[in-house]
Amino acid sequence: MKGRKRVAILISGRGSNMAALIEAAKDPSYPAEIVAVISNRPGAPGLTRAREAGLVAEAIDHKAFASRSDFEAALEARLEAHVVDLVVLAGFMRLMTAAFVESWAGRMINIHPALLPAFPGLATHERALEAGVRLHGCTVHYVTPGMDEGPIIAQAAVPVLAGDTAAELGARVLRAEHKLYPAALARVARGEAPIVGERVEIASGDLLMNP
Ligand code: GAR
Repeated sequence: MKGRKRVAILISGRGSNMAALIEAAKDPSYPAEIVAVISNRPGAPGLTRAREAGLVAEAIDHKAFASRSDFEAALEARLEAHVVDLVVLAGFMRLMTAAFVESWAGRMINIHPALLPAFPGLATHERALEAGVRLHGCTVHYVTPGMDEGPIIAQAAVPVLAGDTAAELGARVLRAEHKLYPAALARVARGEAPIVGERVEIASGDLLMNP
């Protein structure tokens, strides 16, 4: 496809969502191409996985920088070098400054393992079980300075089953993430997830996925 959006995926760990995005982008008709994978942790297993897939994978160790904004300046330089259109956070476990987030407003997305606005933050599966919800899932959203607060692009719901452990529930959500994220990125890359006011305009009623 002509005019594919150039995407950098930011990771911190194993990179299973990254792998799902790489797989989707192998299809020449997919509207985005992955031009770089960047990890803030040099030992992230996802970096090896990305290299095995033939991608450019780089580490920018946040511990080597005196401040959050120094780290972000280094990150920004790499994003510019790769001429990136969209930044995709996939298990990137580092808070970003408001200035950095605002400079990528509408061009940076994240996946969160819960049905936002329920359960922002960490340990989402444990908290879903504690709360006794019957539906749990994942959310792809634009990144804004408030943590896990940005306009929602797409969600996938999974059931909470009797006797579920957090690990079992988390694995079910993760399988949903791997389907949802490539679908949501395609929407964004095609310009089909416009932010209107503080929300993403629903195009055709199909932004809930039940994988
Ligand atoms: C995923 O479940 C993702 O939703 C979550 O981290 C995991 C990364 O797994 N992200 C967050 O919790 C962000 N706050 P992966 O490295 O295998 O894609």
